[in-house]
Amino acid sequence: MPSPNSHYDAIILGAGGAGLMCAAIAGQRGRRVLLLDHAAEPGRKILISGGGRCNFTNIHTAPDRYLSANPHFAKSALGRYSAADFLALVERHRIAWHEKTLGQLFCDGSARQIVAMLMSECDQGHVELRLDASPRDISHCDGLFQLSLGTRTVRAAALVIATGGPSIPKLGATGFAYELARSFGLKIVEPRPALVPFTLGPQEALFRDLSGVATDIIARCGKTGFREAALFTHKGLSGPAILQISSYWRHGQTIGVDFLPGHEPGWLCRTKREKPRAALQSILSARLPDRLAETLAGRLAQTLEGQTDLTRELANLSDKALTTVEQNLADWQFHPSGTEGFAKAEVTIGGISTAELSSRTMAAKRVPGLYAIGEAVDVTGWLGGYNFQWAWASGWAAAQAL
Ligand code: FDA
Repeated sequence: MPSPNSHYDAIILGAGGAGLMCAAIAGQRGRRVLLLDHAAEPGRKILISGGGRCNFTNIHTAPDRYLSANPHFAKSALGRYSAADFLALVERHRIAWHEKTLGQLFCDGSARQIVAMLMSECDQGHVELRLDASPRDISHCDGLFQLSLGTRTVRAAALVIATGGPSIPKLGATGFAYELARSFGLKIVEPRPALVPFTLGPQEALFRDLSGVATDIIARCGKTGFREAALFTHKGLSGPAILQISSYWRHGQTIGVDFLPGHEPGWLCRTKREKPRAALQSILSARLPDRLAETLAGRLAQTLEGQTDLTRELANLSDKALTTVEQNLADWQFHPSGTEGFAKAEVTIGGISTAELSSRTMAAKRVPGLYAIGEAVDVTGWLGGYNFQWAWASGWAAAQAL
């Protein structure tokens, strides 16, 4: 007979945002919960998020801001536990917050306040938290999940996979969720890094010399586009607009960049009439950081070589040449050689297939008592608080069913 103190209603693996939320709510609903993490402290990604201030939700949260093989999957959880619900919790804990931009809510103080809040909610639910704990020999028999923790064996009717995805391994991230899910026969949608900088190959090495230069752009991949800042790095491209579009990018695709968002077609020809003596580079320098303007003008000169000399005054350039310049600036084609990978990816796209789970409870359809929540699941949000909102909402949804 198992001793009573090793028997729980639910064992939750992973004390990140999703696991902490799920444990707290299930505990407060009267469930006996054991929350395990192999790290020495809970919520490490929360602590470093948002530059240490945690972008904990986004007031524009909506299912169409999430990527998943099933775009409808996230609707139920996001609809039942909203950004407003999490904000109410933050306010109940008297954590001061502000909206930074685009609906992104941050702590005024520190991300530590969010972890402290979730820990206090777990305390209210009498959750037993075990850190530095690596679960082994996980099995399922006679309606009970069983696993070893050092010399101890623990059992529960429900097991929740909340161990996240493999992005940023140095923070303790692993592919454990996928291994475990696979061991129970659940399918995995191929995981790949998302919200991640691009690397540029030798043919675009010129742009790597712009490391540190930032500018407002529209980044496009297929039909999707984001208008935000881009940042050139010594490896390639980063910044919010680039991170956003990286989630939609597949190897071999090009990224279109509009360097002058808001400029109407024909603006350069109109500028020629207004300032015929101006040089193209000075026109670009008035709108873009100097080093970028110089690089773009240099590249354009190479592209149009033989047709025109771009160092001449605008008056000496044909409308046709100026239209070509304009089109290039509005849809500059970058050919990323790859991404900076899981080491630099804020999140993982793909994961435990939503086809395996109930969208209402996050329970595995084919393994009674097994649940998966948070980033481990094939639901990935935009940059800007959307991923934590998914962690809270999916954790909350599972907790209602435990
Ligand atoms: P999460 O990864 O947070 O937690 C999983 C837990 O499982 C970890 O505590 C880990 O130690 C544990 N674990 C893993 N393997 C284990 C094993 N084998 N055994 C036991 N435990 C194990 N999102 C957002 O909305 N706003 C933001 O500001 C940011 N900022 C941000 C910055 C950076 C640098 C990163 C890397 C990510 C973000 N994100 C973000 C994304 C956000 O951090 C992410 O979506 C959530 O943390 C996912 O929460 P989960 O609880 O699902 O996984």
